[in-house]
Amino acid sequence: MAAAAISLPRSPPLLQPTRRRPAPPACTHSERGVSFDPGSAFYRSDSAAGRDLAVLAATLHRCRGRPDPSAPFLCLDAMCGCGVRALRYLAQAGADFVWANDASEALRPVILANLARFERSSPAAEAGRRSWVVSHNDATRLLSERYLRREYFDVIDVDSFGGDAAYVRAALLALKIGGLLYLTSTDWRSARGYGSRSSLSSYGAYVRPMPYPNEVGLRMVLGGAAREASLLGFHITPIFSYFAYHGPIYRVMVQLCNGKDDGISNYGFICHCKSCGQSQTFGFDELGQISCGCTDRTDADSITVVGPLWTGPLHDASFLTEMLSLANEWGWACTIENGVTLEKLLGMMIEESDPRLPPGYIRLDEISRRAKVNSPPLGTLINSLRKEGFSACRSHIGANTIKTNCPIASCINVARDIRNLR
Ligand SMILES: C[S@@+](CC[C@H](N)C(=O)[O-])C[C@H]1O[C@@H](n2cnc3c(N)ncnc32)[C@H](O)[C@@H]1O
Ligand SMILES: [Zn+2]
Repeated sequence: MAAAAISLPRSPPLLQPTRRRPAPPACTHSERGVSFDPGSAFYRSDSAAGRDLAVLAATLHRCRGRPDPSAPFLCLDAMCGCGVRALRYLAQAGADFVWANDASEALRPVILANLARFERSSPAAEAGRRSWVVSHNDATRLLSERYLRREYFDVIDVDSFGGDAAYVRAALLALKIGGLLYLTSTDWRSARGYGSRSSLSSYGAYVRPMPYPNEVGLRMVLGGAAREASLLGFHITPIFSYFAYHGPIYRVMVQLCNGKDDGISNYGFICHCKSCGQSQTFGFDELGQISCGCTDRTDADSITVVGPLWTGPLHDASFLTEMLSLANEWGWACTIENGVTLEKLLGMMIEESDPRLPPGYIRLDEISRRAKVNSPPLGTLINSLRKEGFSACRSHIGANTIKTNCPIASCINVARDIRNLR
């Protein structure tokens, strides 16, 4: 990441009330000190953690991640609902300009009233340029128009419903190289393997039920973005991948990087064997060899294969570490908001970023069932696996699960050791 030319704000800047406009209506909601009114828009307070993560990442990107940190910082919120994200990108991430768009024209008064809490023309914005605009287009059309006009953004946020990914290519085209794209899917059916046709058409991945379906969901969205970026001659790096149970919602923040990478090392197939519980990844060059050493190769039912999808790390540990320190600096890290503590969440994500960890996680009760012992305490199992030289941590996705590069047969032995049964 480029060295900082601007120091990070010690606390997120607060809104300056507009002098010339009439006072906005009374606010019914507030997120981290920013007040707004959701009106009739779709708004979930449960999604505040997803917005916190976006603001932290965008702020770091503005200050430290761009080749020219003094250039105007431009954000586009393609499905803005009431405009809460747009408002937070302006007020907290220090955006010089935010484009707030929602297909529904009926939301215009709500969005305008919320953004009116922020000066429409800021000194930092270019002469004659506003610091925010509101439009009502289909997201793909809006993003394509920005690309055709060569208007590129530092952060593009598409907080969509369902699993439609039609806008991904247009979003990548309208993003600056090095910019951040924040994608959302709420299509849990596809992620969990009950909508293979739609996962195939949206993300190019054939998904079947797996023991870690919500991690597969994140990898499906990342894989789709990686494929689209590769088609355009770029590649992506995941900044963070966040699964939230409410919804459920799969969110990934990726950085667009110049040039194609090899295109296969982080993009392939995940195979799970029901007989022994072991998972493995396979590349395109190993397609004919997918099997598990434990099983009778004629028993096709014991093997589940999903993909192609993202098989590399879910997050960037150094970026997340900076997000955590910014959250601490702003006093956001240790508060419990809608049941989420950022310190705990980001801490788990940092541990999950270990590149030695393969895709997937193992449920503690599966280990105890196979080991025929009572479940060992999660922390004890993780420490024992680390002592044996393996990478092991909790998963932010599933309670009572571990991510590890230890083969399941050895996990079973370690669990028995903990219970003194070996
Ligand atoms: C999940 S809500 C957005 C919530 C908001 N981003 C937030 O954080 O509170 C999705 C929004 O996308 C809008 N929408 C749906 N399809 C769209 C499309 N094709 N283009 C633009 N907006 C769309 C809907 O009107 C809805 O307000
Ligand atoms: Zn097996």
